[in-house]
Amino acid sequence: MLTVGINGFGRIGRMCLRVCLEANLDVKLINDPFIPTDYMAYLLKYDSTHGIYPQTVECEKNAVVIADVSIATSQEKDPSKIKWEAHGVNFVIEATGVFTTLERASLHLDGGAKRVIITAPSTDAPMYVFGVNHCCYSPKNGSIVSATSCTTNCAGPLIKTMNDKFQVLEGMITSVHATIAAQRTVDGPTGKLWRDGRGCLQNIIPTSTGAAKCISKILPELKEKISAIAFRVPIPNVSLCDITLRVSQPVTYDEVKKVMKAASETTLKGILHYTEDDVVSSDFNHTKYSCIFDAKAGIPQTSTFIKIIAWYDNEYGFAHRIVDLMKFMHEVDEGKGCVTGEILEEGN
Ligand SMILES: NC(=O)c1ccc[n+]([C@@H]2O[C@H](COP(=O)([O-])OP(=O)(O)OC[C@H]3O[C@@H](n4cnc5c(N)ncnc54)[C@H](O)[C@@H]3O)[C@@H](O)[C@H]2O)c1
Repeated sequence: MLTVGINGFGRIGRMCLRVCLEANLDVKLINDPFIPTDYMAYLLKYDSTHGIYPQTVECEKNAVVIADVSIATSQEKDPSKIKWEAHGVNFVIEATGVFTTLERASLHLDGGAKRVIITAPSTDAPMYVFGVNHCCYSPKNGSIVSATSCTTNCAGPLIKTMNDKFQVLEGMITSVHATIAAQRTVDGPTGKLWRDGRGCLQNIIPTSTGAAKCISKILPELKEKISAIAFRVPIPNVSLCDITLRVSQPVTYDEVKKVMKAASETTLKGILHYTEDDVVSSDFNHTKYSCIFDAKAGIPQTSTFIKIIAWYDNEYGFAHRIVDLMKFMHEVDEGKGCVTGEILEEGN
């Protein structure tokens, strides 16, 4: 039986809870040491980006009650102390951003978790992007996986599609990314990356992204061929990938569109969406896709040098893929599902 626990009840933790509830999954426990139970209920109920939760959300002692579903809460800081087993949790969604290595994420196993899905890139856990390499998942590769980043979940399916059809020689990803909770509203110190601490409402902030490293893990044939940068911009949600690729032979933009449309209707249905409308970012708030190929925004030239543009809901869309990956892992664990058994390369 697939039972779920969520560690870290921030943007991604809350979106994962919403998606789990929509999928009628059995969420047993939410843990966040910095959010008391009544505040968890409040944050789930009122969401400035995704709207008021459509069902009743109430607080009981150590539980959040959503319609008639009661989910236990706890406030442990150390993952090894969270009572996953006592609450019947098998799968933990690790959504803090703090426990991203195998060593740190494995603390959840001490509390009885069977599988851990990290909602961020990891330096040493196997990485899977649903729709790209999730079939490589095998319990033999360990109990802890990373679902990479929202940017990788957007770029991965597109680059895979381009590579399968036109053979990608090299490429660059520019992510124009919505603001995240870790940013500062006005200037302040943040540690190593000084620009990250500049006021998020006033600035376009160039920053690093792990997307290129993640792509080289999920599509090893493109190792060291893809680079990436992100620009944080002052909007609350929905980001964009601008991907420039050099391919092995000249292709027309119409061919690229055809391939993307076909993938959106077949192999990547529900993951990649295709549009020819004149869209802007807010049109994709609260959408479930990993990437929406924007046919009109790419550069339509016949060349070996192609630019494609895609949108992604970095919160809700990403949460959908976490839940898809979790459901798939559960099927494989139960002896169903299409594993290739391929062992993924680990570490950096
Ligand atoms: N926000 C996005 O668009 C996005 C998209 C994809 C991936 N991610 C990744 O998901 C992770 C979470 O991001 P977020 O945007 O939800 O951040 P967030 O700051 O909104 O949430 C993090 C939550 O973790 C909690 N937390 C901190 N330390 C904890 C601990 N020791 N135990 C339990 N909970 C703890 C915090 O109280 C907070 O509620 C990060 O790794 C981030 O990179 C974020």
